[in-house]
Amino acid sequence: MQLASTFGRDSVLNLLASPKGLRSHYASVVTEEIVGQEVSVCGWVASVREHGEHLTFIDLRDATGIVQCVISERIELHPEWVVRVVGRVAKRPLGTENLALASGQVEISDARLEVLSIANAVPFSVSDQKDLPDESVRLRYRFVDLRRARLQRNIRTRAQINKAIRRSLESFGFLEIETPMLWTPTPEGAREFSVPSRLQPGNFYVLPQSPQIAKQLLMVSGFDRYYQIARCMRDEDLRSDRQFEFTQLDLEASFITQEDIRDFVTRAVSEATEAATGLSDLDFPVITYREAISRYGSDKPDIRFGHEIFELSDLFLGSGIRALDQPSVGAFIAPAGEGFSRSKLDQLVDRAKTLGAAGLLWLRVKQGPDGTFEVDSPIAKFLKAEQIATIISRLGAKAGDVVLAVSGEFALTRSVLGTLRVELAKANLRLEGLRYLWVIDFPMFEDLDEEGNPIAAHHPFTMPNIDDFELMASDPLAVRAQSYDLVLNGWELGSGSIRIHDPKVQSEVFTALGISDEVANQRFGFLLDAFGFGAPPHGGFAFGIDRLAALLCGEDTIREVIAFPKTQSGLDLMTGAPKQISKETLSSYGLTLRESPKKS
Ligand code: AMO
Repeated sequence: MQLASTFGRDSVLNLLASPKGLRSHYASVVTEEIVGQEVSVCGWVASVREHGEHLTFIDLRDATGIVQCVISERIELHPEWVVRVVGRVAKRPLGTENLALASGQVEISDARLEVLSIANAVPFSVSDQKDLPDESVRLRYRFVDLRRARLQRNIRTRAQINKAIRRSLESFGFLEIETPMLWTPTPEGAREFSVPSRLQPGNFYVLPQSPQIAKQLLMVSGFDRYYQIARCMRDEDLRSDRQFEFTQLDLEASFITQEDIRDFVTRAVSEATEAATGLSDLDFPVITYREAISRYGSDKPDIRFGHEIFELSDLFLGSGIRALDQPSVGAFIAPAGEGFSRSKLDQLVDRAKTLGAAGLLWLRVKQGPDGTFEVDSPIAKFLKAEQIATIISRLGAKAGDVVLAVSGEFALTRSVLGTLRVELAKANLRLEGLRYLWVIDFPMFEDLDEEGNPIAAHHPFTMPNIDDFELMASDPLAVRAQSYDLVLNGWELGSGSIRIHDPKVQSEVFTALGISDEVANQRFGFLLDAFGFGAPPHGGFAFGIDRLAALLCGEDTIREVIAFPKTQSGLDLMTGAPKQISKETLSSYGLTLRESPKKS
């Protein structure tokens, strides 16, 4: 996948139409078309080469690219010094052209150089893409790291994504509204960051996990299509796709259906994808949560590859084969690349056990001389010919395939196989392209807590499916929600739902969650109150811009598309945050520390 150039010729020319400052041209528009013209360019010295006594070659790097400058004297100059070069554009001597550069046919010759700023020796080379230092060094000197072409491209692509999303939503009448950063706790599942109040000592604001409640209040206020590129904060364990601070495209609309919301999001994401990659007309298929779990063992299936899971328990019901006569037997054809050795299969069995399975059955498919299929497997002798034939035809297996099966409860067979499916595909297949997928009809509650109260799968403002409403008290785990997720290449990109707008329904859901009226009133009284003043039916969605940008830029972690990210342990290595604060500052909040602070 090629990223669309963020510095097309037209956009550079546009830049130059604005006040030019110290420069007449950017590096990438110093081309053959202006040979003979005098130009001035500004930027960083990417490299210096001295030729003989009287010649210095500089590669000058600016925001758009690199241009070669030739100075007719030997001068002292080092990488990353900031310079302005004035000279005449000339064709490069035959054979010295550089096709990798937009300016590669020419150079600025007979150049005069003005040093605008000298630089200390940089901790790593900005141009060296292959031999990068450890990420901790890159994060410590992030301002240097950001000069690298790849990060420049990522950050610029991210801006293009935001721009495309804004353009798309505004074309449908969505209004950008900012919501507070100093907010109150909301029940969305993550731990929140608290901010002490100086004027109300002992009281705290929280930083928003998302603008969820604020945007619902905006619906009550009549702004019926809202969006925001919203900064959100969650104090949760960090991973490659999680940061404390991240950005959501957050939207909400009134008097709409679930399909309308999915349509708005599909259009915005499609425009962002096209702006970043040039790819258009991508499919956004829709499957139910139940189907996703059953076929892929995941609520965020990676559909860049098949290898779907099939149910085989019907073949072994009452068979007396203990390992297979189970409520569920899931099986799939392993993404095996060159096939598996016996020791690899043993490793897979161990892996399945660490994932919670009692074991893992494997069947190597063979074809006899008469064309009939056989299997090589530790359980081969227990299997009847018809069972083998059905397994092979149901899975669509062919000779040489390895079928992996796990038996037990449905949830277990799917979680184990879903994990193996992805791990094996990542190890053995070339996964390419962008595959979006909508997953709908999530369960309303994901499990029961220790006290037997259900735990909201999305958040407690999600509208239950009306058909399942009477199950709320008797069988809460069977209640489906009017909620939906957008998945890209196996990452959860975003989620949303139709919301409860009736205070009575909201109070029933709080009761189901074990939140008493008193607690609900104390924590969300303002929302319940607002719903009593005329709430329109509404729903919305939010997706992670960091995740979308990372996937569209082909990065494995969102840190690569964030200008100043934190480490996995939440440290900002550049500024040293988090830091201790003085006793005076603490006391201005009415706070004292019980333990001496740890050095971060
Ligand atoms: P949810 O909690 O699913 O929904 O978040 C939506 C999307 O935000 C992104 N995201 C994150 N990205 C980076 N780091 C994090 N720590 C992080 N946490 C979440 C993900 C996720 O899919 N208010 C609801 C949305 C709604 O119902 O409208 C919400 O926030 O991409």
